[in-house]
Amino acid sequence: SILIVDFGSQVTQLIARRVREAGVYSEIAPFNAAAEAFERMKPSGIILSGGPASVTDIESPRAPQHFFEAGIPILGICYGQQTMMEQLGGKVEAHDHAEFGRAFIDIAERSTIFDGLWAEGETHQVWMSHGDRVTQPAPGFRTIAQSDGAPFAATADEARRFYGVQFHPEVVHTPDGAKLIANFARHVCGLKGDWTMAEFRETKIAEIRAQVGKGKVICGLSGGVDSAVAAVLIHEAIGEQLTCVFVDHGLMRSGEADQVVSLFRGAYNIPLVHVNAETLFLSGLKGETDPEKKRKFIGKTFIDVFEEEARKIGGAEFLAQGTLYPDVIESVSFTGGPSVTIKSHHNVGGLPERMNMKLVEPLRELFKDEVRALGRELGLPEVFVGRHPFPGPGLAIRIPGEVSKDKCDILRKADAIYLEEIRNAGLYDAIWQAFAVLLPVKTVGVMGDGRTYDSVCALRAVTSTDGMTADVYPFDASFLTRVATRIVNEVKGINRVVYDYTSKPPGTIEWE
Ligand code: XMP
Repeated sequence: SILIVDFGSQVTQLIARRVREAGVYSEIAPFNAAAEAFERMKPSGIILSGGPASVTDIESPRAPQHFFEAGIPILGICYGQQTMMEQLGGKVEAHDHAEFGRAFIDIAERSTIFDGLWAEGETHQVWMSHGDRVTQPAPGFRTIAQSDGAPFAATADEARRFYGVQFHPEVVHTPDGAKLIANFARHVCGLKGDWTMAEFRETKIAEIRAQVGKGKVICGLSGGVDSAVAAVLIHEAIGEQLTCVFVDHGLMRSGEADQVVSLFRGAYNIPLVHVNAETLFLSGLKGETDPEKKRKFIGKTFIDVFEEEARKIGGAEFLAQGTLYPDVIESVSFTGGPSVTIKSHHNVGGLPERMNMKLVEPLRELFKDEVRALGRELGLPEVFVGRHPFPGPGLAIRIPGEVSKDKCDILRKADAIYLEEIRNAGLYDAIWQAFAVLLPVKTVGVMGDGRTYDSVCALRAVTSTDGMTADVYPFDASFLTRVATRIVNEVKGINRVVYDYTSKPPGTIEWE
């Protein structure tokens, strides 16, 4: 495996992705917890990430010094290169102009890390983002590439297998970057690149059995990919010791609740408690128009219902959750200040503490697309595995203002037509999320000989890689016209359709 030491770069997760794409298992540890991670993992190589600090500050973070005496290969990226140089006796200085964006490096010497990729005398495009730069490499290092802004764009100590790059190989704007990281992982560290989902499945099954023993496990299903994959994996490990609880808040999309029930009870034969709590949720939402209060109510009620069911099942020591790696990575923060709550997303946070149960979280090491790959490995149907993300509070936050059963039914119909057209056009997988929103606005229309006065429906579709930023999906006008015509004709209660052209930021993906 490879240990990635995080110095707080925005793109550290991408390093882990690239290493795993090369078939090598990797984990990220913040610089101040890296020594422990090293002990636990006994890695075959180390990557030091970039970061916002300046090596020229005495207070700035360093890699544990003994990493440089462990006899294993090290790759330092940007800040990682600078701190490695500084820690091994070189010099780093602030530079009068920072360098950001596309740059070109000239390969000065052959190096093991460039083998089969870059040859001496060639020029290659990379992505730079730095203020400081190395001005004198540490003893033992040679310059293997240079650029105008960074005379030591890449440095190597072949004997110790230490490499430093000023540019960012992990971002897509360094076109050969993924290959460079793969070269480090396989060629320099000598790792085979045979980390696969089939292997992960076997390892996890053994771990779950070891953790749970003869104990009982309860798993809450949301209808989403993560909890479903976690449940199927755990069931494979411990069979009937697992009971799933599906708290159906009545705010799901069309046909979704039935799909969950038939998949689990039918295809997998997993014990499932289906709690139909629609009335409870809808009556509690009555009169509530504030988006945060709607979210809080749904989150709290969800926990109450779940707890009640867990009590009825009785005797369960373990709670299974589909927590993913991006939720677990302890982010390195240098600002220290509280971040502003834009929306409270963690609907069921606090559940494990309250219920005093031990957690089983078999997906903790995985990224979203790896969870999907594991789902396919476990035989989950493609419509389930490839499903767009859906928020915990469901349709309640796609009905701005007060929620009611009638409004939910209207929205479900419009949303189903929209998604059906998207699937028919073969666009579903190119889109991160697509959904309809039912606006609390009525407008006048004319149908046949009559005047109508009905609701407006907004359509949203975005592309994104993580939901943090998003672009509007650019449908053809003919596609949107077709969807609008169908919705107005087929859904009673809607007489006008609009398309949301706002990116994130400044908009959010959901309307509430
Ligand atoms: P926003 O609207 O903040 O959404 O741009 C970013 C992503 O998060 C999802 N989302 C939620 N997920 N509970 C959830 O579990 C929530 O309260 C919630 N609000 C938004 C949203 O669908 C998108 O994928």
